[in-house]
Amino acid sequence: MGFSDILKKARDILTPTKHTTAIILAAGSGERFSADAGELAGIKKQFVPVLGKPVLLRTAEAFEASSLVDDIIIVSGEEEIGLCRELLSPTVSKLKCVVKGGATRQESAMAGLEAVDPKTDFIAIHDGARCLITSEIIDNVIREAYHTGAAAAAERAVDTVKYAANDLTIENTIDRDHVWLMKTPQIFTANLYRAAVYSAFKEGAAVTDDCMLAERLGFKVRVVDCGHENIKLTYAVDRVIAEAILTERKRREAQTIKENKTK
Ligand code: CTP
Ligand code: MG
Repeated sequence: MGFSDILKKARDILTPTKHTTAIILAAGSGERFSADAGELAGIKKQFVPVLGKPVLLRTAEAFEASSLVDDIIIVSGEEEIGLCRELLSPTVSKLKCVVKGGATRQESAMAGLEAVDPKTDFIAIHDGARCLITSEIIDNVIREAYHTGAAAAAERAVDTVKYAANDLTIENTIDRDHVWLMKTPQIFTANLYRAAVYSAFKEGAAVTDDCMLAERLGFKVRVVDCGHENIKLTYAVDRVIAEAILTERKRREAQTIKENKTK
């Protein structure tokens, strides 16, 4: 452990916990996933099984296991509100409510925001379809947000990144060391997030992630490296990749246990 890691640990221990609500978005229709899902095409992607457990349950259980999350709000399609309650109630004790989403991800986030407890200090927005999230990543991003006001999970670009014009001609190469691919959770102080959401709504601004909402108002958002495994189920093949990653995690865990026993 280096000196900066020790400082970070000390900082985390000294930080008082703040009331934190996770809004998990699961009101999408999963069109790209269903297009190629074969026999699973009839089930929305947030409910398909990944190694036998539904995607949304995996996601919610990671937030349940986080030491810093207090409340969980699920945003789902109107017809799946009952199903979500039934699915999560047995193991997700932090579940505060399941609310009906909107036609776009942004509208669904707003629906979730309206259900947040007024005493909440920090809001974590997460894609329900990002079911490989771990409680460690969630806590890392939350801790960063506690100190800076806004932080988001992201992965460093691994490929060379080019900017191409409309005619698909490459114009230039972007410095990869500064390119981050944004994931979730994305976490903000409740006041910042509320202001950012309502300002974008009022001005009809289209955004593709929640960081853009904060950036529009000039707030600084920190990226937190979440590695390569925090994938979102977008296409049907992502389910196969997710199962392979989970199998590999199990193998790694078993190996660590074995190594610790022989020490
Ligand atoms: N989402 C939502 N409400 C919407 C659209 C999306 O809550 N109106 C959620 C999805 O359920 C998903 C997350 O936002 O967990 C990320 O969106 P995406 O991966 O695009 O999912 P879908 O919109 O469902 O998929 P597609 O775009 O392929 O239809
Ligand atoms: Mg979508």
